[in-house]
Amino acid sequence: METLRIRRPDDWHIHLRDDNYLSRTVRDAARYFSRVLVMPNLDPPITDVSKAIDYQQRILKFAPPKFQPLMTLYLTDATDKDLIVTAKQSGIIDAFKLYPAGATTNSRFGVNTIKALYPLFKVMEEQDIVLSIHGEVTDENVDIFDREAVFIETILAKVVDHFPLLRIVLEHITTEEAVQFVKSSSDRVAATITAHHLLYTRNDMLVNGIKTLHYCLPILKRNRHREALLKAATSRDSSFFLGSDSAPHPRSAKESACGCAAGCYTGHAAIELYAEAFNSIDKLNMLEGFASEYGADFYGYSRNKDFIELSLQEWRVPTYLTFGEDDLIPTRGGESIAFQVTKGGRYPLSDILD
Ligand code: DOR
Ligand code: ZN
Repeated sequence: METLRIRRPDDWHIHLRDDNYLSRTVRDAARYFSRVLVMPNLDPPITDVSKAIDYQQRILKFAPPKFQPLMTLYLTDATDKDLIVTAKQSGIIDAFKLYPAGATTNSRFGVNTIKALYPLFKVMEEQDIVLSIHGEVTDENVDIFDREAVFIETILAKVVDHFPLLRIVLEHITTEEAVQFVKSSSDRVAATITAHHLLYTRNDMLVNGIKTLHYCLPILKRNRHREALLKAATSRDSSFFLGSDSAPHPRSAKESACGCAAGCYTGHAAIELYAEAFNSIDKLNMLEGFASEYGADFYGYSRNKDFIELSLQEWRVPTYLTFGEDDLIPTRGGESIAFQVTKGGRYPLSDILD
């Protein structure tokens, strides 16, 4: 298939960051996405409705018409039940994000004892607001490659049992175990899958020299897991949908001697990278459901009415992209991507290549 026309996609998990980084992140995402669900892990995080409204306004300054940032709130040990009700009533909060404390970027404000949050989960279930989860344990005795599977077994399974009507998104899944768990759960439990976890394995990160570019959390796994994710994403199962987890860091933070920041920047080309992954197993025809339908259905939004076209036309990604006063290394920086948006892009690809 040389070209593919799909309903305009949405991204149900993105990090746009703030201030002078927004011009890059918002412009890139708005080239092809309609709605993006914005993660709240700023420093300090977005923990109440008024902070979310202010953050949304800052994002909108860089947004073209019809690009919609949807907002989330960050759960802490101190989050109060009343906030769940206030958030639902505000009409601008689509999910609460649970970061286990210490699991990833800016998670030190996160949750130490998930069990202590059960009273909040009950209110979320009653209010029918989505709980979005970074699903990894933080126990230092658990190997980093096992942290997602252990989280599912020891924590998530119990939450799902206790709150059968709670809508849960297990974010950026990376393992066969996560695929199985979501498949065997009710349709109240869904998962996002990133483009980088569909395209890369830990070998890409670790063989022939460590590539910090590919360091993200949950960490890339072995190929058997990548294949399970690809199979799930292309299976017409509406429990799996697009969440890019595009997570930019300035180059200095990715290449720092005191530890490399976790996160892959795919915002410049997320839909094109997904197209490549789907095409690698001849399943491009499954992209529309995954990218443009199932996420909107899960979050209770109508599907977008307009369309984009993707064509098999290779282009070269610059090695560095400007990022506020800094620069960043995008996924595929200095290499090429096989697809590009050829119709329905809000501006040409050349506009973002600086
Ligand atoms: O790799 C990641 N980067 N994983 C996350 O969970 C957070 C993200 C970020 O904000 O940089
Ligand atoms: Zn994320």
